[in-house]
Amino acid sequence: MFAILVLCFVALAAAQQPQPCTSPPQWEANIFDYNQQQKFMVRGRLSYDAVYRRERIIEEVNFGSQGDAFDVIALFDSQTEYIYDFKARNCSRRRIERPWRDFGIPQGARSFGEAYIGSSAAPGLGLLVTLWGGNHTTPSNDTVRTFGTWTYQACIPVRFISHSERFGRTETSFFDVTAGISDPNVFIPRRECLTEKEYAMRDILFGKPSKQIQQQ
Ligand SMILES: *[C@@H]1O[C@H](CO)[C@@H](O)[C@H](O)[C@H]1NC(C)=O
Ligand SMILES: *[C@@H]1O[C@H](CO)[C@@H](O)[C@H](O)[C@H]1NC(C)=O
Ligand SMILES: *[C@@H]1O[C@H](CO)[C@@H](O)[C@H](O)[C@H]1NC(C)=O
Repeated sequence: MFAILVLCFVALAAAQQPQPCTSPPQWEANIFDYNQQQKFMVRGRLSYDAVYRRERIIEEVNFGSQGDAFDVIALFDSQTEYIYDFKARNCSRRRIERPWRDFGIPQGARSFGEAYIGSSAAPGLGLLVTLWGGNHTTPSNDTVRTFGTWTYQACIPVRFISHSERFGRTETSFFDVTAGISDPNVFIPRRECLTEKEYAMRDILFGKPSKQIQQQ
């Protein structure tokens, strides 16, 4: 009898364990991104593609008090980013050192339950979210601790915090998320960022997912 009760209890506890939801892999959003260690704050429109690990963000950056505007395409699979400076009207490219940030709920994350942002007192006052925290080690062997909030329905990221010794604490908030990538050319760098030859081949080089580039 006791054993059955215990089994029932265990089964009940297992049933109540919240399951992580799956975020859409491709979307666009307005973001606020703040890094404490590097003292930068970014506000911009992000195009996010977790399938081919790439990001495009048209951003306004504040390093301390100095404001600048950039158009950044970061292709993590080829570890290259293209940074167009709106003020100087020039572009630089550099190797990506930071790890890819996946804005989905990490594997092995621990549930911190569900909660309303705002209030549950009346319809329209609140947003039901699901809270998860986790740890992972990057290929560069940095331990990154994360904590995030996703909408209970559709699993859309609301806020994402990550912390590591090397990269400091970054906090990202997402607004006005739309599904999918509105413009398929969004990951093709500007003419200023490419050589003549690359520009002529831009559709082949960048129009196709970067995974296919690497196999060439
Ligand atoms: C872009 O222009 C700025 C200001 O003129 C200059 O400091 C910077 O070195 C330039 N960058 C590139 C990649 O040409
Ligand atoms: C992540 O690691 C820290 C420090 O090792 C630990 O205190 C925390 O409980 C871990 N969190 C999860 C969700 O595993
Ligand atoms: C990763 O870091 C841990 C502790 O910081 C260390 O023990 C381990 O040897 C490192 N692994 C590699 C592959 O560098």
